[in-house]
Amino acid sequence: MVKYNIIDHHYDVIVVGAGGAGLRATFGMVEKGLKTACITKVFPTRSHTVAAQGGVGAALGNMAEDKWEWHMYDTVKGSDWLGDQDAIEYMCREAIPAVRELEHYGVPFSRTEDGKIYQRPFGGHMRDYGEAPVQRACAAADRTGHAILHTLYQQSLKHKAEFFIEFFALDLITDGDSCYGVIALEMATGDIHRFQAHQVVLATGGYGRSYFSCTSAHTCTGDGNGMVARAGLPLQDMEFVQFHPTGIYGAGVLITEGARGEGGYLTNSEGERFMERYAPTAKDLASRDVVSRAMTMEIREGRGVGKNKDHIMLHLEHLGPEVLYERLPGITETAKIFAGVDATIEPIPVLPTVHYNMGGIPTNYFGEVLSPTKEDPDRVFPGLMAVGECASVSVHGANRLGTNSLLDIVVFGRAAALRCSEIIKSGEKLPKLPIDSEKFALSRLEKIRFANGKLRTSEIRSNLQVAMQNDAAVFRTSKSLEEGCEKILEVARSFKELSISDNSLIFNTDLIEALELDNLIACALTTIVGAEARQESRGAHAHEDFPDRDDDEWMKHTLAYVNEDWSVDLDYRPVHNFTLSQDVNYIEPKARVY
Ligand code: FUM
Repeated sequence: MVKYNIIDHHYDVIVVGAGGAGLRATFGMVEKGLKTACITKVFPTRSHTVAAQGGVGAALGNMAEDKWEWHMYDTVKGSDWLGDQDAIEYMCREAIPAVRELEHYGVPFSRTEDGKIYQRPFGGHMRDYGEAPVQRACAAADRTGHAILHTLYQQSLKHKAEFFIEFFALDLITDGDSCYGVIALEMATGDIHRFQAHQVVLATGGYGRSYFSCTSAHTCTGDGNGMVARAGLPLQDMEFVQFHPTGIYGAGVLITEGARGEGGYLTNSEGERFMERYAPTAKDLASRDVVSRAMTMEIREGRGVGKNKDHIMLHLEHLGPEVLYERLPGITETAKIFAGVDATIEPIPVLPTVHYNMGGIPTNYFGEVLSPTKEDPDRVFPGLMAVGECASVSVHGANRLGTNSLLDIVVFGRAAALRCSEIIKSGEKLPKLPIDSEKFALSRLEKIRFANGKLRTSEIRSNLQVAMQNDAAVFRTSKSLEEGCEKILEVARSFKELSISDNSLIFNTDLIEALELDNLIACALTTIVGAEARQESRGAHAHEDFPDRDDDEWMKHTLAYVNEDWSVDLDYRPVHNFTLSQDVNYIEPKARVY
């Protein structure tokens, strides 16, 4: 093996990823007196949290009566009863202090006339256990993620958190029983860094880039999920991929659901507000899976708009320029740039676009990663935590409600810090590293770095993205999923034909993209194999051959293990059908009507 320069670091905690979850975890740890470093492949304020638009959910009741119990009910219902109710209770209850905390940290929220945080309606958020939409999304115009990310980074600087910026995490250091740290490549120098810590907290985001069209940044490549899969740990509920109803047609860029929250609506080629047929109460503010399916049905039945009848129109023009410029300035600009449309006078062409991964690394609500066994489905894997989109807590179950993602990152970023402060004594001697702790990461790096097959990273990635787009779509069938499994496995196996033209280690984007592709493949495989096995329809998994939800057989979390030859083994663990406290009862499953 080539000789690498290895630089050692010792911390109480290492956080991987500097989006909202990673930053909230990082300075929370520092605040608790833990020696913490955050390593990130992009500059923190370029993390994908910056793109979140419409709001962060919390039952503050600033605009109308609201209760966290209603928020909890909506989240359980939105999850189509695949969410863990103890974790959902924790998140919805903690939402209120978490948003107040953000306000005190300095997030520039929009304001009501009397100076309170402005809240808008959002899909699936209702009052009185599903009666009518409620204003629950706490918004900073339509740039809420931007406002939160920058504030959390400022808080991290204030707390003097240490950052290792443009470091690419390669692999975890584990002996199969615990995690001891992480090996990372410093992109500017090519040095290898070995970070040892009592806890590694993964906050690496989603894997939207396994699809051809998505709202996710190019950096959303499932790096934490990939590392976990290679460590022999399972990924959970990966088959549940959220399509956001309003990606700009052709470009995939997000138009916030907050646009419908402010009164926007969808029409088909006949000018009909078709959501009234699919969701008579919530209409355009039904949950995302419901709206995305309705749009797809309209297009399939020939009522799509345009020459090819292949998209839907989103109307905002009736809101008037004042509302658009004050409440929705970002998407008004985006519509102009990416669709060439002046939203103050004409509708925006939109299409459901991949937006969020409900599945990920299984954790409890403290953020601790699970390595389930039959005897103990909630067994903790020592030394490893995960928060944010890369984790499956599971608060989103089969379908996430809009605004619950920004909420998830702040609530569980903070929960991870609280947990670490309980279980780590700062400065305590670190456990002895396993022998050859860097070997696994470096031999993989070397294999990829010197790959001299005949396929470019971009070719393999494009084959992957097209297969996922076609076969793991809004609607799925046994045939599409079977074919999808074969195609993705073929793509995975073609990875051994990879060719890397630049073998250097200094800012080698060819190499970094190949490493990311390796992670994407693990994510895509577990998604399609889990989907093929799940013979029911639930949340974002709409299976046309099994159109009903089957609670007797399928109210359970999928666990997917990736083997070295890219085959995937599936197992299952029970959903937490219990609450955390006596304050609320378990919410019994029923049909989801909006
Ligand atoms: O539509 C949006 O603004 C997206 C929000 C979310 O995914 O939570």
